[in-house]
Amino acid sequence: MTGGTGVTGGTGVTGGAVHAEEEQPLLVLRDVRIGLHERRGPVEIVRGVDLGVMAHEKVGIVGESGSGKSLTVLSVLRLLPDPPIRLLGGTVEYAGRDLTTMDERALASVRGAQISMIYQDPMTSLNPLLRVSTQIVETLTAHTTPKHDARRRCSEVLHQVGLTDPDRVAHAFPHELSGGMLQRVMIAMALAVSPRILIADEPTTALDVTIQRQILDLVGELHETTGMAVVWVTHDLGVIAQFVDRVVVMYAGRIVERATTEELFVRPVHPYTVALLGTLPREGAAHRSPLTQIGGQPPDPSRLGKGCPYRQRCPVAFDRCSEEEPPLLPAANGGVAACWRAEE
Ligand SMILES: Nc1ncnc2c1ncn2[C@@H]1O[C@H](COP(=O)(O)OP(=O)(O)O)[C@@H](O)[C@H]1O
Ligand code: SF4
Ligand SMILES: [Mg+2]
Repeated sequence: MTGGTGVTGGTGVTGGAVHAEEEQPLLVLRDVRIGLHERRGPVEIVRGVDLGVMAHEKVGIVGESGSGKSLTVLSVLRLLPDPPIRLLGGTVEYAGRDLTTMDERALASVRGAQISMIYQDPMTSLNPLLRVSTQIVETLTAHTTPKHDARRRCSEVLHQVGLTDPDRVAHAFPHELSGGMLQRVMIAMALAVSPRILIADEPTTALDVTIQRQILDLVGELHETTGMAVVWVTHDLGVIAQFVDRVVVMYAGRIVERATTEELFVRPVHPYTVALLGTLPREGAAHRSPLTQIGGQPPDPSRLGKGCPYRQRCPVAFDRCSEEEPPLLPAANGGVAACWRAEE
């Protein structure tokens, strides 16, 4: 880890958070490396991610498809699809304990009651054969809630996630519900246990814009009332612009920029972040003009070579960019950026 750009350093992941110096992050990923095991040996796909999440904070993880966002968040609860994907190194500390080495029973209690995940496909967490109420009640009773209280809590959360007819939904099987309703049910299930951290991996990507907005508003309200921390993963910076406190930008398996949302939008530093912002529709535009795409493709992780992984697509690349991969450096906007031009 480079001095001053670490997880809790002055220009670290908590930069800009109130009382950042006094508080310890609730969740800390240190040098997380994840590999795809192939016959020739492992290919490193996530290449040393450092990330801290404070209690009550909302953090966005943004990057094009394939940048390693899902694998990074799946590694937190040891949910990597092994084989072929495996953690190669690093630690994931939650409330001071390393989840990567914790025994299965202790980890199960963190998974079910402290850190909840929601996914793009609600059926990842729902069982098609069980009624919604049965699934929520089972989740709760598995974590020491008495059955009677679990039933009450189930109606409460279904109501909380804005389902207009919670009783009907409770008795339904998943196939009887629409996509938007399933998404709400999955969120209800994740929230039933009152987690301290909610990790959302592109849960609104498949939904239309209005429902996306409703779900973000809903999670925002629940964040306000319960104080849970939120980690929101998306390929679309526009989705979370109004929602998160801090943004982490990933490219080719690394964090390439980290800043408060405001700093990032006003003064993006990494050329990739600049390009991502360039693809957003303008605020207040009378109609959505066709979005510009970032030219070129992200690199193949097995052929990164030396140098900055963004160099082939970067409009301001220079000699050094082909020689050496830049570490996260203090950036002019108060955050950090993995670019040799970060301090300009
Ligand atoms: N089960 C898997 N088998 C093989 N490769 C995978 C698997 N899961 C992910 N990958 C590869 O790892 C890279 C990062 O994946 P992922 O974390 O899902 O990216 P993101 O969520 O940012 O779209 C991708 O290039 C993908 O091809
Ligand atoms: S290090 Fe060089 S190639 Fe990479 S983003 Fe910065 S200027 Fe572009
Ligand atoms: Mg993903």
